[in-house]
Amino acid sequence: MNDERILVLDFGSQYAQLIARRVREHNVYCEIVRADISIEAIRRRNPKGIIFSGSPSSVYETGSPRCHRELLDLDIPILGICYGMQLTCHLLGGQVQNSAHREFGRASCEVFGKNGLTDGLPDEMEVWMSHGDKVVELPPGFQAIAKTSTCPYAAMKHESKPVYGLQFHPEVTHTPLGSALLHNFLYKICHCEGTWHIGDFAAHAIDSMRERIGTDRVICGLSGGVDSAVTAALLYRAIGSQLSCILVDNGLLRKDEQRAVIGEFTNHFKADLHVVQGESRFLTSLAGITDPQEKRRRIGHDFIECFKDEARKIKDAKYLAQGTLYPDVIESGAAPDGPAATIKLHHNVGGLPKELGFELVEPLRDLFKDEVRKLGIELGLPEHLVWRHPFPGPGLAVRCLGEVTRPRLDILRDADEILLEEIRNAGLYRQTSQVFAVLLPVQSVGVMGDARTYDSAVVIRSVNTDDFMTADWSRLPYDLLGRISTRIINEVRGVNRVCYDISSKPPATIEWE
Ligand code: XMP
Repeated sequence: MNDERILVLDFGSQYAQLIARRVREHNVYCEIVRADISIEAIRRRNPKGIIFSGSPSSVYETGSPRCHRELLDLDIPILGICYGMQLTCHLLGGQVQNSAHREFGRASCEVFGKNGLTDGLPDEMEVWMSHGDKVVELPPGFQAIAKTSTCPYAAMKHESKPVYGLQFHPEVTHTPLGSALLHNFLYKICHCEGTWHIGDFAAHAIDSMRERIGTDRVICGLSGGVDSAVTAALLYRAIGSQLSCILVDNGLLRKDEQRAVIGEFTNHFKADLHVVQGESRFLTSLAGITDPQEKRRRIGHDFIECFKDEARKIKDAKYLAQGTLYPDVIESGAAPDGPAATIKLHHNVGGLPKELGFELVEPLRDLFKDEVRKLGIELGLPEHLVWRHPFPGPGLAVRCLGEVTRPRLDILRDADEILLEEIRNAGLYRQTSQVFAVLLPVQSVGVMGDARTYDSAVVIRSVNTDDFMTADWSRLPYDLLGRISTRIINEVRGVNRVCYDISSKPPATIEWE
């Protein structure tokens, strides 16, 4: 489909995915591959350019990640970022200084010797540094094109070959002109044309699914989240009434969520919808359980059983659709020539076992979350669904600390509803990444009217994050926090105290369990 692509060689950087997303934001398809990918595999992909990512390693360390040296002679444009630049220098005969001290943070960078990469940039710009080692002598044929007060070779280029290096990180927002630099690399040096558009992706995905599925039936699990909704929408466009969707209501959803998901679904598709009323089954197996891992295990097990029972009722289904995204594919080590698996921070309860016997359809496996959202809009899904905050598979069970019972879930649902209503009314839903209430297994003394109360405490959690791997607590206005607290205490029977969670991740996590 994509005649032009950029490869990111992943040397173990936490930013490799971010680099790929930034490239795609410039309408150029980008894939992440392992650093030691063979020259043959590179040639097969026929990339317009290659970006070397950073790395926590040092080029002098034994076992530090390497690429094939011949890559630098292929005449494919190369941009080395941080470790990527140091490795380029090291492989081509320059000197890298090993340093125990990290230079970390903003730096002012002087840009000189204007050329394709720095076209249109001012003489002085702010950049983000995050490195220990640095280049102290360029390899033959290279020249400096930028410097900072501590780094004489903040950027470099070869005199005649399309090989460039940056000591700083153009992919992070703390380098405000980083996007312009990447744009120059893609369009002026790699001569990309910008052929990656989400609308074209949709048309292509729909055609190829139609061809693959033929007249067979596909089952798709719906969770109410954006990934499963976009997967279903794409499939519905491709195969219409051959799609059957299953929604398992585990009794751990937010207030009125089942009704909302069914409403949205029936508004947008005329496909076959199966709703499994699983509340009593899930709550029975959660009775008396307070351990977070055990809650997750039981919910996962019940989910699979419910899904299996319902799927069996759907005759002739051959495929199972899943909303797997590109970061999942990369992090699980499943991408062809992709980097090795990294440990995933949480397991997804929606993961279904192979024994179900279906072939998998994963139409979103090349996409990042922001692209899935764009695709959702392209497919006509409503904005509020496309921008919905993530909700964990085990649902309110991991926000109802202690035992999960129907009365406790009802308290949590009411508090959560008020919180979200106030966040929306304040126009802050899109500016926050995830907002929810947590019910503590703690009671405290209060006074209401003339009477003493001994009721539950609710915690409000609101975080801002790009990738959910790290997160900061949202600086919500005091007045808003006050309103939320007053409303929850006045309107939710059984709650007499509201606290605001001001922990960031790490060291805390976003969820409490
Ligand atoms: P933590 O709590 O690990 O959460 O900081 C990071 C993100 O993952 C979501 N999360 C889950 N999602 N199944 C899911 O589908 C789970 O078991 C699960 N646990 C956490 C969490 O809501 C946040 O967005």
